[in-house]
Amino acid sequence: MREILSMNPGWRFIQQDVKKQGFQSIHETLYANPAWMKSGNHGLSEVGYNDLDWQPVDLPHDFLQENPFTPDAEVGHGSIQKGIGWYRKTFVVPASDEGRRIRLEFDGIFRDSEVWINGHFLHRHLSGYTSFPIDASDVLNYGKHNVIAVRCDANLPELWSYEGGGIYRDVRLVKTHPVHVPYSGIFVHTENNMVKIETAVRNDLDTDLNISLQSTIINAEDHAEIVNETDLKIEAENTATGFQTLELSNPRNWHPDDPYLYTLVTSIRIEGEIVDEVRTPFGIKDVRFDGKKGFFLNGKPLKIRGICNHQDHAGVGTAIPDALQEWRMIQMKNMGVNALRCAHNPPTPALLDICDRLGIMVMDETRLTGSSPELLQQLEDLIKRDRNHASIIMWSLGNEEMKVQSTNVGIKQLKKMQHLVHRLDPTRPAVYSMNCNWLSIARFHDSENFHLDVFGANYTLTPDGVDDGQYDKFHERYPDWPIIGSETGGSFATRGLYDTEYYNGKPMELNDFGHGGICWENEHLKGMASAYNNGLTPWGSTIDQTWKACADRDFLAATFLWTGFDYRGETYPFDWPATVTRFGLMDLCGFPKDAYFYYKAWWNTEPLLHLFPHWNWAGKEGLPIKVRAYTNCAEVELVLNGKTLTRQPVETNGYFETMADYQPGRLEAIGYDTDGKEILRTVNETVGDPAAIRLTAEADGTFVVKAEIMDAEGRFVPTASNKIRYTIEGDAGILGTGNGNPTSHEPPKGTESSAFFGLSQAIVQMTGEKAVLRAEADGLESAEVELRSSHWKKPPHVPGILEKVEPIEIAWNPVDGIL
Ligand code: GAL
Repeated sequence: MREILSMNPGWRFIQQDVKKQGFQSIHETLYANPAWMKSGNHGLSEVGYNDLDWQPVDLPHDFLQENPFTPDAEVGHGSIQKGIGWYRKTFVVPASDEGRRIRLEFDGIFRDSEVWINGHFLHRHLSGYTSFPIDASDVLNYGKHNVIAVRCDANLPELWSYEGGGIYRDVRLVKTHPVHVPYSGIFVHTENNMVKIETAVRNDLDTDLNISLQSTIINAEDHAEIVNETDLKIEAENTATGFQTLELSNPRNWHPDDPYLYTLVTSIRIEGEIVDEVRTPFGIKDVRFDGKKGFFLNGKPLKIRGICNHQDHAGVGTAIPDALQEWRMIQMKNMGVNALRCAHNPPTPALLDICDRLGIMVMDETRLTGSSPELLQQLEDLIKRDRNHASIIMWSLGNEEMKVQSTNVGIKQLKKMQHLVHRLDPTRPAVYSMNCNWLSIARFHDSENFHLDVFGANYTLTPDGVDDGQYDKFHERYPDWPIIGSETGGSFATRGLYDTEYYNGKPMELNDFGHGGICWENEHLKGMASAYNNGLTPWGSTIDQTWKACADRDFLAATFLWTGFDYRGETYPFDWPATVTRFGLMDLCGFPKDAYFYYKAWWNTEPLLHLFPHWNWAGKEGLPIKVRAYTNCAEVELVLNGKTLTRQPVETNGYFETMADYQPGRLEAIGYDTDGKEILRTVNETVGDPAAIRLTAEADGTFVVKAEIMDAEGRFVPTASNKIRYTIEGDAGILGTGNGNPTSHEPPKGTESSAFFGLSQAIVQMTGEKAVLRAEADGLESAEVELRSSHWKKPPHVPGILEKVEPIEIAWNPVDGIL
């Protein structure tokens, strides 16, 4: 039977192009050369190669996170030095595996990776975002040690923001019978309530075979609902496909509010004996985009309240462990988000599993638009890998490729891509996202030859920064063409900062983009990056304009806000020392900015009253301070030190704002419902000096630990910047730290992190059940948090020489001599 083992633990890494050291070519480096073997030199992917001075690492691993920030590196990519890296892992495959098929599954390596095993070249993979399998059966040493070596080159970008480097997603070893379901071999979908299943079965034996293919649908309560058995003949060393249609009585639909999942169990039998079994979770849903009425899920209209996200987090970069991915999605779900756009690249499959389970619809996106074999293959691989996921509602053919979206050449390419989508998945439409001149180029996408399924409009302004009602004009011109706000918003904010942004006492330098970008106007940067979200890109709109534009138009199926989380790079409007963007509704740590609460208020029904700024403005006594509340209350009253300053109605999808002359004390907002009944109160008070640290931990397996600086009375100090030192004891390691400061140059892999506006974060990876994280800062009472992982268990993994942290010395001997 099939065995799936993690290959994540126990690698060795070096950030260096090793083959350039004294070796001339890949061949000389990687193939064991008898002459070198005599002198003890072995190829990089041979067992005997001496890698003892390489760094022991576990995957996922983004090696750029260990590199320094430097003004010499591109600010758009996060001002982090890029590089080339080599990974090696020694692992054991038992003798009993001889005769099985053994494949490696890589979820993603950034990028241009080359893979060797035991001196044999196996694969080269350009994309840093698509996944790939490698059949290693023929080159493995059974009953002995094996070595896999991977080279990757993170120098060239695929995107225009930070992309990381290395084996930053999971790697698995999958062992199967020679007759088995291959990688991405199953497609299950529903059409008119019929469950249609296509199953590829691979026969790696050298005789023709008759097999029986059994498909069983199991509900979430683990009861088999229906079974179908089909016979299939497969020629030797060939693949055959079985087609089955099953009818479920009273199927329960998948919906963001009820993410109900079925599981398809696929069993392959030879003469009655099961030789392979695969479990595929899937959902039953019907997706329809309508030009007049927007999006329909399972026949009912649903406004898509989406966010765009890049893959990047404080302390870990792109190497985001699954538990952290889930934590990030829970923060989004709590805000009221019901959809994620994987901007602008294929996501890790673990993220899609999470969206299936949490009920977050997904726009799954390929990285590059084009019809070359390489790019069509990338799209095909993506669709085949992901099409069983309940969460996916559309396939994105790309984003803002200027050479493609408004040329006849490009339209030929998009047409081929859309055909591919239709051929591989008849249940979901294709979308392509155009930048702000979208209205004028729409005609390219609606010609005799080509009509894009769903029109993706990024932002609402013309390239000159003018709002000339593009959504409505589009709808007038094309009343039946479904349109979504595929990227919206474009305002920016720095968490906790309510003033112009300064660095070393001077206002931050604007970058070229800010100065020289199209329609550069100071107006757009009013308030700079302060937490009021006043600063906008030339093509951006304020948070309430953005949501109102969507909420007020039935025909507009979706808004996808740019972005959920901050990410490294795209530091608009600032230059170095900025390293992180400010577009997120949350910062790089996932600490919410104020704007998060605007959407939380209007995307949920529970009453909410979020008051800001904080009330610690020593030195500004008597001066006016802008006070806002993001709320869904009908009216808000503002009270300062017991005296009512104002009471104002709040319009739907709007917010409360007033000016208040600062005096220390207690600023209180009272929220009323439409009957004038008090429903909520929020207080911001002037607090004392930093006195202590408070730690709280969330998630499991990988803990997300928040450190808050508190005053002597246990109140949060929103201006604190104390440097925190983290230490860990027990079965865990600190993966990294951060604070959300977009100009921070503290090493993400370090264990020290200064609080930024009162907050810092440590990401802790459990390696067992129990650990204690301690946080200390000069002059403050320290804190400890016990981390207990309720469901931690070491995933089954491939045994090797370098189990976990402590490397074992390998006797540096002939190739096969260490067993
Ligand atoms: C969009 C682009 C995004 C991001 C954003 C910044 O035009 O699609 O990837 O660059 O601008 O405002």
